[in-house]
Amino acid sequence: MTAPSANAPILFFDSGLGGLTVLGPTRALLPTAPIVYAADYAGLPYGEKSDAELAARVPALLGRLVERYQPRLAVIACNTASTIALAHVRAALDLPIVGTVPAIKPAAEMTQSGVIGVLGTEATVRQPYVDDLSAKFASDKIVLRHGSPALVAAAENKLNGREVNAAAAERAIAGLRRQPGGDAMDVIVLACTHFPLLAAELQAAAGPDVRLIDGSAGIARRIAHLTQGQPWPAEAAPGVAVFTRSDTNPPPPIAALAPYGIGRIETI
Ligand code: DGL
Repeated sequence: MTAPSANAPILFFDSGLGGLTVLGPTRALLPTAPIVYAADYAGLPYGEKSDAELAARVPALLGRLVERYQPRLAVIACNTASTIALAHVRAALDLPIVGTVPAIKPAAEMTQSGVIGVLGTEATVRQPYVDDLSAKFASDKIVLRHGSPALVAAAENKLNGREVNAAAAERAIAGLRRQPGGDAMDVIVLACTHFPLLAAELQAAAGPDVRLIDGSAGIARRIAHLTQGQPWPAEAAPGVAVFTRSDTNPPPPIAALAPYGIGRIETI
C-alpha cells in the first residue's frame, strides 16, 4: 500500500458525540493528525435501532464519508455500530477500519471479586459479540449487563449544554447492582463511547470501590500503531465535524467541540 499524503485525515464515526472520547486520547498521541469527526445525528440513538437497520445504515454512510473525505483510516468510535456492523464495513471498504469493542478482557484481569458489569446501549448488550467476549476472556467471572438509552441522552445533553437528567447514572448503576451477584461488582465496563462523558456521575453513583474502564486508550494506541511511519502535517490544523442533517437534532455549538480540536462544522 502506498503511503497516504500528510493531509489525509483520520475519520472518526459515531451516532453522536460519544466518539469524542476516542478522539481525545488519539489526539494526545497524534497531535498533528488531520481529523474528520462524523456524527450520524439523523440516526441517533443507534442503541434503539434494529441490528438489520444498523448493518445496512453504517456501511452505507461510512462509504459516503470515505468518498468525500478520503481518510487514511476510519475509526468506528461506537460500540453499537462496531459490534453489529464492523464486519460489513470491512467487507465494503478498502481502508483500515478500527472498531470499538467492550473492554471485557481488561475488566476480567482487573476484578478482584469476579463480578463485572457491562454498561452499554440496549443493542450492544444483547449482541452475541458480547457473549463471545465473555466466554473467551471472562468465563470464570460473572458478567452482568445493562442497557441504558437514558445515559446516551444525558451525555448528549451534557455536551450540548442542555439540562442533564441527574438520575440517569444512578438508575444505570442500579440496573447492574440489582442483578444476582451485583452487590459484589467491582469493575464496570463503559461499553458505549458516550458513557465516559459521564464518568464523574457514574463514579459517584457506583461508589469509590468500583473501577470504571473503557477502551479508548487502547483504541488510540491501535490507531497510532496502524499509522506508524506515515507522514503527518508539521502543525496541527483545526479538524472538521460533519453531522448528518436532522430536523430534531441540530449540531452542537462549536464551543463544545473546540476542546477536541474541531474548528468547523458541516452538515450532509
Ligand atoms: N456511542 C454509541 C456506542 O458506543 C451509541 C449511542 C447511541 O446512539 O445509542 O454504542
